[in-house]
Formats: sequence, C-alpha cells, structure tokens
Amino acid sequence: MRAAALAILFLAFLCASTLADIGAQAQKGGNPEAAKLTNPVAKTPESIAAGKRTYQRMCARCHGPGGKGDGSGTTIPSDLTDEVWEFGSSDGEIFTAIHDGTSIDMDGYAGRISDTDMWNLVNFLRSIGLQK
Ligand code: HEC
Repeated sequence: MRAAALAILFLAFLCASTLADIGAQAQKGGNPEAAKLTNPVAKTPESIAAGKRTYQRMCARCHGPGGKGDGSGTTIPSDLTDEVWEFGSSDGEIFTAIHDGTSIDMDGYAGRISDTDMWNLVNFLRSIGLQK
C-alpha cells in the first residue's frame, strides 16, 4: 500500500516537472534562441490592422489603448511603445513573450491566439512603437 502511494507521488512529481518545462516563460534580458525566429508575416497594412483588432480585444485592458502601459491592472504593465524591451526587442522575442508569457502578471497566449495572429500583434506593436 505504501509503495503504491509513493509511486503515485513520484508520478505526480514527474508530471509537475514536465508541465513546468512546457510552461517556460520568456526570459528577462532577452532570449537568443527566440531572437532567431523569423517573422513569417509581412508587415502589411492588413496584418497591422488584424493585430490592432486582437490588441484591442485582449491586450488593451492592461497595456492601455495606445500601448503606453496605462491600462488598468494590479501590476503596471510594460509600455509597448518605448525603446525598452525587457524580454528582448527582436520580432522573435516579442512573439515569444506573447506566446509563452513573461511572468504571473502576463500569461502566455499560446492556444488562445493563433501564431499568425501573434505575428500580426508583433507587426502592430512595431507600427505603434519604435520602427526597427
Ligand atoms: C493582465 C494584464 C495583461 C494583459 C491582458 C496583457 N499583458 Fe502584456 N504584460 C503585462 C505585464 C504586467 C507585463 C510586464 C511583465 C513582467 O515584467 O514580467 C507585460 C509584458 C508584455 C511584453 C513584454 C514587454 C517587454 O518589455 O519586453 C509584451 C511584448 C506584452 N506584454 C504584450 C502583450 C500582448 C500582445 C497582449 C495581448 C495579447 C498582452 N501583453 C496582454 C500585463 C498584461
């Protein structure tokens, strides 16, 4: 009986550590691997408009209507229009911050927003922030 309980505990531990791996978050200071991702979606007016729609629906409440970090929320969210990108400034790193999340204050959107729509968001953020 005890052995069975231990085995179950061990299995639960294995599952938890696997989940922790999958739930990897964007890294502060940037992420060289993520920076290698190339943006497959051209920065067309259509892509930027699609990104803006998703932004208004899912991001503006925290990051503010213009991305200035002036939305409502308990933690002050990043200004997405300044030159400071805590999690890296390349398209791939911004994509990864949205995809995987950054911290308990900013959840990952994998599964809730399609990859294409996340690239549209990257393109939209570029259009309101520093052009690079
Ligand atoms: C619940 C509030 C909330 C929502 C909703 C939210 N964010 Fe965030 N976001 C934050 C906070 C807070 C941070 C700063 C997190 C930190 O420092 O760990 C952040 C950080 C970021 C960063 C990293 C900025 C940097 O400096 O590197 C990006 C990019 C970002 N958010 C994009 C988005 C996008 C796109 C959406 C919509 C799909 C979104 N966020 C939705 C709260 C939110």
